[in-house]
Amino acid sequence: MRLGLTGIRKMAVRPQARRHAGPAGIGAMLTLALAAMTMTLAACDAGSSAAGSTAQAGGKADASGHAQVNARADMSASGNAGVESQANASSASGSMATSTVGVSARETGQTRAQVYESVRQMTALGKQLFFDASLSGSGKLACASCHSPDHGFSPANSLSVQLGGNDMHRTGMRAAPTLKYLQSVPAFAEHYHESDDEGDESVDAGPTGGLTWDGRVDRGSDQARIPLLSSFEMGSTPAKVTTAVKAAPYADAFRVAFGEHIFDSDDATFKAVLQALETFEQTPELFYPYTSKYDAYLAGKAHLTQAELRGLQVFNDEKKGNCASCHISQRTMDGAPPQFSDFGLIAIGVPRNRALAVNRDPHFYDLGACGPERTDLKGRAEFCGIFRTPTLRNVALKKSFFHNGIYHSLDQAVRFYAQRDTNPEKFYPVSKGKVQKFDDLPQRYWANLNTEPPFDRKPGDEPALDEAEIKDVVAFLNTLTDGYKAGDKAGKSTAAN
Ligand code: HEC
Ligand code: HEC
Repeated sequence: MRLGLTGIRKMAVRPQARRHAGPAGIGAMLTLALAAMTMTLAACDAGSSAAGSTAQAGGKADASGHAQVNARADMSASGNAGVESQANASSASGSMATSTVGVSARETGQTRAQVYESVRQMTALGKQLFFDASLSGSGKLACASCHSPDHGFSPANSLSVQLGGNDMHRTGMRAAPTLKYLQSVPAFAEHYHESDDEGDESVDAGPTGGLTWDGRVDRGSDQARIPLLSSFEMGSTPAKVTTAVKAAPYADAFRVAFGEHIFDSDDATFKAVLQALETFEQTPELFYPYTSKYDAYLAGKAHLTQAELRGLQVFNDEKKGNCASCHISQRTMDGAPPQFSDFGLIAIGVPRNRALAVNRDPHFYDLGACGPERTDLKGRAEFCGIFRTPTLRNVALKKSFFHNGIYHSLDQAVRFYAQRDTNPEKFYPVSKGKVQKFDDLPQRYWANLNTEPPFDRKPGDEPALDEAEIKDVVAFLNTLTDGYKAGDKAGKSTAAN
């Protein structure tokens, strides 16, 4: 069943000079036909690559989802600046056979084989770094502590915000997101126009892209710097990181990958660490395998249950969930699988999470793109309260939802959309009989709140989704978990990935 949703995109047209946001993010740059290399990465990818051969066998469109993965390995630490490699996955079996590393090879005087080898080394190192708690100030926190491979690289626990800092008791203000499907997040742009092959270029989709909830960095390497140095996360320093890497079992491999003198400077070592993490995060099998039941369904290899199909319909219906207007559910015009996000930054008025330590201060607000974590748009009122639309792929593996982790079940998250405006008392505090709607956004920014369906109602109206439809949408969201194998009932992963 194909629902004819063409061109559902936000229509906030503001006349602006057209501009393409360059590729950004983790993915954009990366590289590699990494997939082509049978990775020696053990443990966490065992499940997903096995599953890949089943569900990914979805024909050309699936393959094109992997196609044209661009990788740029800025290996300046080793003196090989600007290595750029292009990988082209053309095989329908997902084996990403064809790859062209010619460009890089030409530019840097390296052979194709050398470029592949560098990427392979960095990926393997990045993986070890990702799981290495000795990089943190406390010695107890690794990237993987908050981004668990078994949970779509989101937290294994249900805390709204994770514990960190040198005493492992500090908290920040945001829920840890999944690290999957970041490869197509565009660089942050205040005014974003789709490329020709994806949509209507003349439409300004508004602020879009960038990594983290507020889109404040564009590259995986710049992003990795944040948790490593944050006093409430890994609380480390370039010097501590260097000491840890020098003492690590992979120290020799690090020298081989980045050069004999890499440990001479803490800054060079730190930069190399960031680079390796970015490269690891672009491993297709681990981070964007497209092996969900829904991918198999799009490829004609699986059937959705009645409940899942009804959920998909409600999800897509512009008058009901309207979810797909932001969480894109259809293939792009050139056939690439949907990312379940348009990566737009949007204000949806998520309630204040009063359980967070930062919120004990009644004057504190996490306003997303206008601060306080992000600083370049400070004072720009039109950016207050907006957060980047997350992918919904693997969302069923998460245990806390929205930027402040306020909800802990998909039912609650979907119910928020369905009933926020018809039954606001269910979500916001009530004081003296009056509902304190949008209690985490000062009133002067309410103009930024989205008012499209399902946010177009008032108390007394019918909710956009009834109880059965909420359940159906949750059933559909469960089909977005990677690792589907034909025969699985709920589309849930049986493999750890
Ligand atoms: C204490 C928990 C914690 C640790 C440890 C941690 N992260 Fe995160 N991560 C988060 C949170 C919270 C966010 C969202 C931050 C924000 O929006 O300001 C995040 C965001 C990210 C993002 C951006 C995701 C997106 O949707 O744009 C990436 C990439 C990432 N982390 C990678 C890493 C890497 C690499 C490491 C190790 C160097 C790491 N994280 C360590 C909690 C953590
Ligand atoms: C106008 C754009 C828009 C629409 C429409 C929309 N979403 Fe979202 N969605 C977002 C944004 C933005 C966030 C993050 C908001 C935040 O945390 O402040 C989000 C977050 C979520 C989350 C939490 C994911 C996570 O990782 O924490 C879920 C689940 C979700 N949306 C499901 C839905 C469903 C189901 C619908 C339809 C009923 C829907 N969304 C409609 C933009 C949208």
